Amino acid sequence: MRLDKLLAHSGLGTRKEVKKLLKKKIVEVNEKIVVDPKTHVDPETDVITVLGERIAYQEFVYFMLNKPQGVISATEDAVHDTVIDLLEPQDSLQEPHPVGRLDIDTEGLLLLTNDGKLTHRLLSPKHHVDKLYYAQVDGIVTEEDVDAFKTGVTLEDEFGTYETMPAKLTILETDEEAGTSKVEITIQEGKFHQVKRMMETVGKKVTYLKRVAMGDLKLDPLLELGAYRPLTEAEIDMLENS
Ligand code: URA
Repeated sequence: MRLDKLLAHSGLGTRKEVKKLLKKKIVEVNEKIVVDPKTHVDPETDVITVLGERIAYQEFVYFMLNKPQGVISATEDAVHDTVIDLLEPQDSLQEPHPVGRLDIDTEGLLLLTNDGKLTHRLLSPKHHVDKLYYAQVDGIVTEEDVDAFKTGVTLEDEFGTYETMPAKLTILETDEEAGTSKVEITIQEGKFHQVKRMMETVGKKVTYLKRVAMGDLKLDPLLELGAYRPLTEAEIDMLENS
């Protein structure tokens, strides 16, 4: 990669500021002063220092966010804040993106990374990575609904119909008097509003939705809404092998 990109992503300033740093002859690559921002470097093997201090560059970043309601799962939006706006400036330098989408009113586990390969793995239905949701539902969820989810349901929109893959629906609690239920749903796909639309096919409405796990990775219960933390090495391995 280009030296100016590596330095900028390591928090040394904008590309313009990095250019000025290079002009000062304080950047060395393998103990040789380098001034050309276009110089190609290999972060794995080259030793890069600024004023003698080694730059520890990490190509990929991985964060677990407890997404609050009101923010969009995108990198940019003209109207709303995005999940990227919740990051400290130094954590967005390497341009992480959300792994899949949670609706604006959905809370919970959202991964942010710049690792495209892992993103693809986690999102592709072919890889069968489970996404576990907790939902509160207006309506009494029944064993018939559980069976319907088990075989898959038919979603309809203006473009046609779609048969979902089998999903696991677990009834946690029902309140007959209030006519409401608390459930868990596991799906392996990520169609637009999938959980809400699946529940609509059995005549019920999701009133609150939270993602609690993706593969073996569980939302850290210590993370407040809107807070995030880097994944541990063990968690990254867990995702790569899920
Ligand atoms: N299903 C939904 O309906 N919404 C989400 O945000 C995620 C899954």
